[in-house]
Amino acid sequence: MTSDAFSGLVAALDPPLIVVTTAVGDERAGCLVGFHAQSSITPERYCVWLSKANHTYRVALRSDYLALHFLAEDDLPLAAHFGTQSGDTIDKFADLATTTGAGGVPLLADCPNWLVARRSALLDEGGDHVCLPAEAIAAQHGKPFTPLRLSRATHLQPGHGNEERHDPPTERAAP
Ligand SMILES: Cc1cc2nc3c(=O)[nH]c(=O)nc-3n(C[C@H](O)[C@H](O)[C@H](O)COP(=O)(O)O)c2cc1C
Repeated sequence: MTSDAFSGLVAALDPPLIVVTTAVGDERAGCLVGFHAQSSITPERYCVWLSKANHTYRVALRSDYLALHFLAEDDLPLAAHFGTQSGDTIDKFADLATTTGAGGVPLLADCPNWLVARRSALLDEGGDHVCLPAEAIAAQHGKPFTPLRLSRATHLQPGHGNEERHDPPTERAAP
């Protein structure tokens, strides 16, 4: 297999983009995600894959809940906000209107199409992203929308590279 063939195949799928948010106590997190899919009809399950590099991943490890916001084609500024900056250095929610969903997850007021889900498992099979299967517990389909797709966002520079890892890896590892 060539990596050109793999990347050509997955680019042809042109996945819709979502913003995944989560929270633990007062700490809120969220990032742009292209790796996501429905994974069961009954019960209604959905998987997202988070990068081990991301602040959102580290907060999600400590949270039972995720909110998935399905972006519309005019949401590119929101995609850039969540996809090119890191919660390691800024509070992405400081200037955004939000409400609160189950488990304290932030719901973005500007996104009428969302799903809140309870994390049911975590699969780390050694890659740079980790699979978080989740059970849908609440949803809002605000209005019909045309999804914002990856092909419209390829110029965005992710806030973290896939190869980055938090340093120190754990709080106890800090000097
Ligand atoms: C087009 C695009 C798609 C992305 N897809 C994912 C993804 O599927 N999963 C993920 O964890 N990060 C993905 N990222 C990267 C994060 O959104 C980005 O690194 C973000 O700044 C991390 O923020 P955080 O450190 O606050 O979590 C994507 C970024 C872009 C620009």
